[in-house]
Amino acid sequence: MLTKTRTKLLKAAVIGAGNMGAGIAAHLANAGVPVLLLDIVTDPSARNAVAERALQRQLAGGGFMRQELADLVTVGNLEDHLKNIGDADWIVEAVVEDPEVKRDLYRRIDEVRKPGSVVSSNTSTIPLAQLTESLPASFVSDFAITHFFNPPRAMKLMELVASSDAREGLTADIADICDRLLGKTVIECRDTPGFIANRIGNFWMSVATLEAMRCGLGVEEADAVMSAPFGIPRTGIFGLFDYVGVNLVPLVWGSFMRTLDAHDAHRRYDLTADAFIHRMLERGQTGRIAGQGFYRTQLVDGVRSRQVIDFVTGSYRGLRNIDFVSLSEAKGDLRKLCEGSDTAANYAWRVLSELVCYASEVGPEIAADVGAIDTAMRLGYNWRYGPFELADRVGLSWLTKRLLVEGRAVPRLLAMATDRGGFYPSGKLLNTKGTPIAPTRAEGIGALADLKTSASPVYGNKAASLWDIGDGVLAFEVHTKMNAGNLEMLDVLEAVPSVVKSGFRSLVIGNDHPRAFSAGADIGHFVELIRRRNWAGLEAFVVRGQNALRALLHGPFPVVAAPFGLALGGGCEIQLHANYVVAHAELNAGLPELRVGIVPGWGGCTRLLERFTEEYAADSIRAAKRTLEAIVAAVPSTSAMDAASMGLLCKQDAICMNRDRLMMEAKERAVVASGEYIPAANARIPVAGRQAAGSLLSAIDEAVEAGQQSEHDARVARALVRIVTGGDVTHGTLLSDLDILVLEREAILALGEAPNTLARMEHMLNTGKPLLN
Ligand code: NAI
Repeated sequence: MLTKTRTKLLKAAVIGAGNMGAGIAAHLANAGVPVLLLDIVTDPSARNAVAERALQRQLAGGGFMRQELADLVTVGNLEDHLKNIGDADWIVEAVVEDPEVKRDLYRRIDEVRKPGSVVSSNTSTIPLAQLTESLPASFVSDFAITHFFNPPRAMKLMELVASSDAREGLTADIADICDRLLGKTVIECRDTPGFIANRIGNFWMSVATLEAMRCGLGVEEADAVMSAPFGIPRTGIFGLFDYVGVNLVPLVWGSFMRTLDAHDAHRRYDLTADAFIHRMLERGQTGRIAGQGFYRTQLVDGVRSRQVIDFVTGSYRGLRNIDFVSLSEAKGDLRKLCEGSDTAANYAWRVLSELVCYASEVGPEIAADVGAIDTAMRLGYNWRYGPFELADRVGLSWLTKRLLVEGRAVPRLLAMATDRGGFYPSGKLLNTKGTPIAPTRAEGIGALADLKTSASPVYGNKAASLWDIGDGVLAFEVHTKMNAGNLEMLDVLEAVPSVVKSGFRSLVIGNDHPRAFSAGADIGHFVELIRRRNWAGLEAFVVRGQNALRALLHGPFPVVAAPFGLALGGGCEIQLHANYVVAHAELNAGLPELRVGIVPGWGGCTRLLERFTEEYAADSIRAAKRTLEAIVAAVPSTSAMDAASMGLLCKQDAICMNRDRLMMEAKERAVVASGEYIPAANARIPVAGRQAAGSLLSAIDEAVEAGQQSEHDARVARALVRIVTGGDVTHGTLLSDLDILVLEREAILALGEAPNTLARMEHMLNTGKPLLN
């Protein structure tokens, strides 16, 4: 059944199959929308070649959530196939950043598009008024800017700009599609150059680049300052520049220099006029695609080594050790860093103060409130904090005082925020006029964090909590490091049935972590038990997990899991024991226990075997083989759709594109499910038995002999064979899930005694990487 949002978009077309256009087409396909992808003809004998190559790049580069989704994309060219956009509900233009080229294309689109279809541009800098100059009013009424970020699948921000002459409902319809169907956070922007994120972000890039040169810092030194201390990704400024391409300076920064007012502070930092940048452009030192930019990788004496361009000599040199007293003493505290007395400290202060002043100066022009700007920077540039959040963190009184001491002007918004005690004074935020307002959220968007300011958990400890999320729904939240499952988490999980009984009708399992639903059972605990040879403790840990999860599956109330990001090992087993799953589209779920030398032991093998037995209509040999293969592969899914193909999601489960909607969609499912709920019956599983185990074991021996599998991997695989074929029984014996759970436990205890298992676990704990012993 199509959702209301999906019916607004049955078919789309994307014109311009470059980085962005092809990525947008792939992401539309991820949402199940058929797309026509067109580009120019460059080779008369292969007229669709540009779009075809772009599609192949998306397939290779992970633009699609599953490879089959590429079938939803039809490639073509603008000369032969433009008329085919006639049945598209939404036409996205993503051609070169040139207003003349874009306008000319719009005229051609307007001749063939169906009345009322939406046309939008992915421009990153050109104002809408300029794009639609001299176009008919009927076109402008259906036109908007939908500015996706690169890469379109991964980046959550979408800036939306519509004309005041747009038809009623246009922005709401586009916002709805981008939010629910494409999973984006939509920020409605004003029609100003670069909208929000690039207006601030490009300015920051100019300042961070030119100030590094002026302060005499090296590329790698500037990046050390412009990353962790600012809450900015490791690429810092110059790593980012290499990624986006220095070749964009004339085009994108040039566009800013042409359109910004004469008094705009960005003009003081004009990258397009910088001699060093010019020289890099002349020499083709434009970044990653060119193989050289601010960084490059060279073979030196047969060893790959990273080099940086030297701002003084213009040639490449090896990386220096980062050695600044201010950086090491600040320990990540940005204010402390700025208070230091060396070059790194001076640089940090220069960039921070320019950034906060600029955001405060242009804030009233580009956004309604400071939250929109901070959100745009977090989501569009992957910053941990936006400029106003950063300013609040370092302290506004300190910041303004220092500006005054230096004789610099304090922008009005910054001065007002200083008077009010911050850009976010006591749970509110400032609008760009400087007035505190209450934060608002669109319907259906929610997180446990919303509750935490005003409520206390119903039950919990330092590892996990139970929350009353309303409408009779209880939520179980893990909050350990990477949400790993430990003994204390089990304490809370075990309490779930009685807490639900005390006045709830269903349970949702989810949390607000940015990356991990749960990265698995706590390996540290395993290591501790195994080092002490505490086998009784190990067995108890496994049994408690099995029982707690089984109680969820068979309990008298429905359980809905809301996994996202990493759902590995024990985390995946939690998902497998929920009665329903509402998964975020970006889900890396899997059972990689083999990598730490054990098997899934909280019912993961059992649940998968049950599922595959059902899928293969009780063909126990196929079910055993498929379960074995899934666990031995030990690779997590690359998306929720991929997880479904691995048997980790079922028919009744749902996929939610927007992470911000996950919790509320899971809650909605939990409410609906409680009305009709019949608890899951105990499973009776016909197993493959001893004979089938024989052939599976021979295959493992062959793999070891052929050098395809290590001896320890084979040992884990052999243990798995015993579990998935039911142990010492004959073919077709009916076992209960409890019988298989016993086999899981026996396997873990046996494998726990192997020194290689402990070595794998310790290595994973210390390095986060698997040991291939
Ligand atoms: P690109 O250079 O990778 O692709 C542009 C495509 O336009 C090429 O495939 C080219 O063949 C096609 N094209 C050139 N002339 C054309 C014409 N006359 N008619 C039709 N197609 C033509 O560029 P990219 O990076 O994909 O950018 C596309 C748009 O998206 C631009 O407006 C850009 O500002 C914007 N944008 C770019 C971002 C990025 O990070 N690359 C991020 C957000 C927006």
